[in-house]
Amino acid sequence: MPKKPLRTMGQQFNRRSWAEPWKIKVVEPIHMVSREEREKAIKQAGYNTFLLPASEVYIDLLTDSGTSAMSDRQWAGMMLGDESYAGSANFYHMEKAIQDYYGYKYVVPTHQGRGAEHLMSQALIKKGDTIPGNMYFTTTRLHQELAGGTFVDVIIDEAHDPENLHPFKGNVDLNKLEDLIKKVGAKKIPFVSLAGTVNMAGGQPISMENMRDVRNLCNKHGIRVYLDTTRMVENSFFIQEREEGYEDKSVAEILKESCSYTDGAWMSAKKDHLVNIGGWLAVNHEDVFEQARNMVVVYEGLHTYGGMAGRDMEALAIGITEAVQDDHIQSRIEQVRYLGSLLVDWGIPIVQPIGGHAIFLNAKEMYPHIPQDQFPAQTLTAELYLDSGIRTMERGVVSSGRDPITGDHKYPSLELVRLTIPRRVYTQAHMDITAEAVRAVYENRKNTKGLEMVYEPKYLRFFQARFEPIK
Ligand code: F0G
Repeated sequence: MPKKPLRTMGQQFNRRSWAEPWKIKVVEPIHMVSREEREKAIKQAGYNTFLLPASEVYIDLLTDSGTSAMSDRQWAGMMLGDESYAGSANFYHMEKAIQDYYGYKYVVPTHQGRGAEHLMSQALIKKGDTIPGNMYFTTTRLHQELAGGTFVDVIIDEAHDPENLHPFKGNVDLNKLEDLIKKVGAKKIPFVSLAGTVNMAGGQPISMENMRDVRNLCNKHGIRVYLDTTRMVENSFFIQEREEGYEDKSVAEILKESCSYTDGAWMSAKKDHLVNIGGWLAVNHEDVFEQARNMVVVYEGLHTYGGMAGRDMEALAIGITEAVQDDHIQSRIEQVRYLGSLLVDWGIPIVQPIGGHAIFLNAKEMYPHIPQDQFPAQTLTAELYLDSGIRTMERGVVSSGRDPITGDHKYPSLELVRLTIPRRVYTQAHMDITAEAVRAVYENRKNTKGLEMVYEPKYLRFFQARFEPIK
């Protein structure tokens, strides 16, 4: 037997790894779907991973939304559900957690993020208004458009370049914002729509400095600033890691300071808050609160439950306190990076720097021979499913939709596939399997052909559109 080389032993000895700050108490069995079953399932789903039954999926990386594993404490909280129609005790716990950790005054519960987007958009936007923001998100922009507004992207150019290593690719370009204010006038801008991390840019953060600058510029013009806080805890981790002056602050402190530069927020609690359903909006201005609280009873439910059960609100309140723990958020992001680093090592094109909640494969670069109107990213999602039963999401021309004026596709510069990592659900071994599947699909890239869209719904078409392979 040859002796192990000393160097390897040395490396092992010096190694310092991160690990999850929890152990597993309950497991949910999953099964490997055969190649034959996968071929049948993807065809039946019209080559759209949203239309696959979950029972036909092996590793589900469609989204990190509502897919978290709750802790034993959250499950215990479910038993404390106060299902009173009005004034549930759980609402007050949730309200207090939001006030304590996010710092806003008034809270309105909603069934999930888009319920809050709807109320905010209806309360704040008038027909003909312009809403600047650091890149669009699908449901956010649609609610702004349905309220009569037009979304204008004012994110820095670096965000549109998948290889640019800017540490805060979610930043607002202050010149773009100022030019827009000059062009349309401050009166036509009800608010600036910020998000952290920026989902469609690859989970990229916005810096504290940039948020402060946006606030100052908006103050000069009397414009309000609202924040999509869906993944703001993850954003706070990146600030702690990358921004000078924040290395010794806790994630919770950074989160609260970030929110202090804004007038309010909307939240999809299905992400950062480690719950399967829920959302809220929270604001500092009483007039906006009044309007939202009145509208919530029309569209969501009474203002002390907003579409959630009492037990959901309790789990959410506990989830907020777990989400802001530094060791939780570190292991969450390190797991995403573990997967991303394997792909980078193997030369597979992904968006860099690696973001907070997902790895984004660059389908444009992987399939240069497939034109964008044959949906390279959609094609890649189907290929990954066919290869290994892994479910991912298109974030390219299908998600971008059509221009309401010209009716043509909006061709985004980024044509991506998102491998979204649910929180506290999969292990490092699942990440290995996933990386190896991506490599297999990558190796077969030259033989891959695009898709044709054969059915297209009017709103948010990516959820329900159907495709067929191009012959
Ligand atoms: N804002 C952001 C940044 C989001 O990522 C989402 C949802 C929403 C708002 C809407 O919240 O789903 O609770 O109504 N994103 C999910 C995703 C769907 O897969 O990225 P919701």
